[in-house]
Formats: sequence, structure tokens, C-alpha cells
Amino acid sequence: MSVILDAIETKKLGGTLSEETIREFVEGYTAGSTPDYQMSALLMAIFIQGMDYGETLALTRAMAESGERHSFPDCVDKHSTGGVGDKVSLTSLPIVAACGAPVAKLSGRGLGATGGTIDKLEAIPGFSATLSRERFERQVEEIGLAIVEAGELAPADKAIYALRDATGTVDSLPLIGSSIVSKKAATGAGRLLYDVKRGSGAFMKTTEEARDLADLLVRLSENLGIRSSALISEMDNPLGSAIGNALEIRESVRLLKGEEVPADLAEMVRRVAVRLLELAGVEGPETAVEKAIRSGAAFEKLGDFVWAQGGDPNALENLPVSDPAREVLATRGGYIAIVHATGIGRAALALGAGRVKKSDRIDHGAGVEILAKTGDRVEEGDPIARLHGERAAERAAKLVMDAFELSGEPVEPPPAILDSL
Ligand code: URA
Repeated sequence: MSVILDAIETKKLGGTLSEETIREFVEGYTAGSTPDYQMSALLMAIFIQGMDYGETLALTRAMAESGERHSFPDCVDKHSTGGVGDKVSLTSLPIVAACGAPVAKLSGRGLGATGGTIDKLEAIPGFSATLSRERFERQVEEIGLAIVEAGELAPADKAIYALRDATGTVDSLPLIGSSIVSKKAATGAGRLLYDVKRGSGAFMKTTEEARDLADLLVRLSENLGIRSSALISEMDNPLGSAIGNALEIRESVRLLKGEEVPADLAEMVRRVAVRLLELAGVEGPETAVEKAIRSGAAFEKLGDFVWAQGGDPNALENLPVSDPAREVLATRGGYIAIVHATGIGRAALALGAGRVKKSDRIDHGAGVEILAKTGDRVEEGDPIARLHGERAAERAAKLVMDAFELSGEPVEPPPAILDSL
């Protein structure tokens, strides 16, 4: 029997796949010699029967080794499982780089209601997310911060993920864990922080599920020689007030310049930066983070990095946002009980800030500004959100209106970070 048929039979009956079998079917599928229908059957058997830890580690390793690999043992990196208004990479990474911890990051684009760091950076005129391997390595050396688009890393994961997406086999813990960690292992940073989002706007809906994924990500990474830890953060509400590419860069700039930003964003970014510095072994990380922001060093680092990648640092403080801007008003008074992240994410998408299909063209200036956060008191007629962008503005306004839930009683805003390991 062929390796793939053998693997399907074993998994179908609840057996355990050997490391060699896993490596062979990963290689066979990546090389195009295993047809989609056989790989789909195996993925469904894995989805139903699960995989033990040994199998999951073998799958992670085989996918990590399926293509090009980098090696940055002294660098830090972070990975977010994706959220609405998540500009933590744009802010925490210049801070840690300014504190002396070098960052080599490969990032993705947004799809659906969650944004991607590369799309956000491309809102800066001239910014390029494509660097040769040599230039990427030189920039990490000279500036201490480089962020490029993940290219041909872990091609096995790319192929398998596309098939999972089309066969209802995405939401399987071993498949998600191995997919994420294979790309991180191929990226090669020696220290890694996972930000696992939990909530209605995230992949993991409960804290329990998020903790299970965080445990798996850390364990797999450590077994592959990456020093790692994880935070579990809130994603029922969008993070900060800006959702959309240029809007999020503007909010990031405000934070890096020490100006006022919403408390959830300020707390989240500081906690992530401190954790990254701890992983890098930097002494007194809390003080270092505050100093990097207050002295202007973190903002300067952002400018140096943008300039090195062809962007205009002078444009950072006033990136254009799309007209027409229209405000959404509260229809009654009360306390904001929740701003549903999914609704806001869908509104930003409708306005043109994201893409439904990979080929869609995005409007970098489009998006939503949240003017009243969870816990705030509003009166009837107060502006609660501002929309930017021309596409589907009516639908976006309705989505935003529906995303705001009001309460007659005072509401305590949720903590930005729910757990850590
Ligand atoms: N993100 C990934 O990279 N892979 C998954 O399987 C799910 C989310």
C-alpha cells in the first residue's frame, strides 16, 4: 500500500502515525505526487481522530523543513493569532528594537475581518515588504528591525492550509498548532512570544480553548529549540480605537510618541514588549520600555525601519485617511457594554480596509474609528464611531451600529490580558 493510503487507514482506525510516515506524506503532497482527494481524506481522519503530541511535533518539523529557512538565534519575534485593530506588532516591535533586542519578522496580509501587518505597513507611501534575503539580514544587523512578507517559507503548510480551508478541516488543534509553529520555526527567531486571542472576534472563542492552543504552541516551539512564552488576550472588543490600515499606523504613531491612546492598547503593548525583552534577557524590562517611549527612541526606531524599507518616515504622522468621514451616533443613552469585534471587523472590510478574496484591492485609508469604548457613558446623539471610505458605507454604518451594545448599569471594561504562560 502507498504511504498515504496506509496513513489514511491508520488514522481512520484511531492509530498513531510514525515520524517517517508523516515526513513522507508531507513531502509527497508538497511535491504534487499525492492528489488532493487522498490528502483531504487524511486531513479529515486527523480532524476526527486527533493527533497525539509526538505526531503533532513530527508534522510541525516536517512542514518547517519543507522549504527555505532563516536563522536568527538572537532575534525576538511575536505571533498573534489575529484580531480586529491588532496593531501590537507595529508598536511593540519598534519598542523592543529600541531597547536593544533585534527583531526579524515575517508577516502576512489580512484576509476577511482580521487585518495583516503587511497591509498596514503598505499604507505608508513607498514602503516595501519585499527584501532580498541578504538585505533582510543586513537590515536586522544594522537597524535591529525588519518586517517582510513571508514568501516561500514552509510551502507544505501553505498547500495543506489551502486544502484545509476548502475541506472543513481548519479548526483542529494539532493542525492549527503545527501550521503556526512550522512557519515560526522556518522564520528562525530564537525567542518567540505568542499572543493567543480569545473572544468572538478571534479564532478561539473561550479562554480554555485559547489556553490549550497557547500550551501547544509553546511546547512545540520549545521542542524545536525556540525559547517561547504566550499571553492570552481579549478579543470580544477591538483593540484600541483604530481599525483599518492607515488609521492603525496613525494610532501606533501616537502610542510610540507617548501620546494618549486607549488604555487596553497601552496596556497590551507594554505587556508584550516587556515579555519580549524578558525572553531576550534584557534587564529591567519595564523601565526600558517606558524609557524607549518617553525618550522618543521607539518612534525614531519606527522611522529608521520605515526608511530602510523605502517608506517615507515624514508621512507617518499624517497618513491620509479616506473620505467621506461619517459619524455613527448613539440612538439612546447608557454605558457601552461591548463593542463586538466581529461587527466592527466586518464594517471595516465592507468599507474597503480588507479583502474577501486574496485578489481584492484594498483601500488603505478606509476603516472605522471607535469613539466610545466599553465602559464609557454615552448620551443619545453622541458620536460613537467614525467611518472612512466610500464602499458600502450604508451597510458599514448598520454593522457598526449593531456592534455597539448598551447597558443601563455601569460596565467594567475587560482586562486586555486574560492569562499568561
Ligand atoms: N493560522 C495559521 O497559520 N494556521 C492555522 O491553521 C490557523 C491559523
